[in-house]
Amino acid sequence: MSSPTTNTSSGDPRVAIVTGGSGGIGRVVSQRLAADGISVVVHYAGNPAHAEEVASSITDAGGSASIFQADVADEHQVEDLFASAEEQHGGIDVVVHTAGIMLLSPLAELSLDDLDRMHRTNIRGTFVVNQQAARRLRRGGAIVNFSSSVVKLAFPTYTGYAATKGAVDAITMILAKEMRGRDITVNAVAPGPTATPLFFEGKDQATLDRLANMSPTQRLGTPEDIAETVAFLAGPGRWVNGQVIYVNGGIA
Ligand SMILES: NC(=O)c1ccc[n+]([C@@H]2O[C@H](COP(=O)([O-])OP(=O)(O)OC[C@H]3O[C@@H](n4cnc5c(N)ncnc54)[C@H](OP(=O)(O)O)[C@@H]3O)[C@@H](O)[C@H]2O)c1
Repeated sequence: MSSPTTNTSSGDPRVAIVTGGSGGIGRVVSQRLAADGISVVVHYAGNPAHAEEVASSITDAGGSASIFQADVADEHQVEDLFASAEEQHGGIDVVVHTAGIMLLSPLAELSLDDLDRMHRTNIRGTFVVNQQAARRLRRGGAIVNFSSSVVKLAFPTYTGYAATKGAVDAITMILAKEMRGRDITVNAVAPGPTATPLFFEGKDQATLDRLANMSPTQRLGTPEDIAETVAFLAGPGRWVNGQVIYVNGGIA
């Protein structure tokens, strides 16, 4: 079994790429993996200042972090991201793919441009990132994709977004089988409502209160709640494979 902090064959510190490391969940996932002794490449798209803050918080705490910009749907930029991580650290063990967007509307009014944007970032982006991960990850590695609890909760206005996350589930379950013989796990976490900018966007207080109360825990999830599960899947959770884990405080 691989240890959470070192690569099985080389004994070197493990290396993780966290896509969307500049975002609400990606930031805390990056910090959590670094606290577990993993060297982290904090990926970002349009917010270098956020990524730099995350990397500084990690290095200030004695960890190892760098930042890298890429559009996750652009295969050349993502190839550069992975090549740079390999060059810098000698290999990659963990890919946590949090980068994603959410655009909400009732299906009847959903702009097809918005659908295409979500398709590009959430589906093509997952494909492109998972392709690089599948080609390059070392033995003992882990891929953690990001789905959403709305795939099953089926909230009105989420059709386009939930459809892209259903695709992430399918990619995750099939890629896990395609990794046969590689000792690489592939799982997805499916958060429920989690207090990040993506979640707060466009919601009034009444909606936030209603969503928080849907869970028996009567609160919103936090990025720390999600990072706890990611750290398990990225480290000691070697016997969990090909699963979509609902991390949502019991909301149903
Ligand atoms: N928050 C929730 O309630 C919730 C619930 C279920 C699932 N999720 C999923 O959890 C993941 C993280 O969500 P979050 O709440 O942390 O979102 P967030 O705060 O909005 O962060 C999104 C991240 O994705 C990056 N990104 C967006 N478009 C990109 C692109 N084309 N290429 C590369 N990176 C791109 C952003 O980079 P820049 O900021 O640098 O541009 C940012 O780092 C997403 O996949 C989301 O669907 C969230």
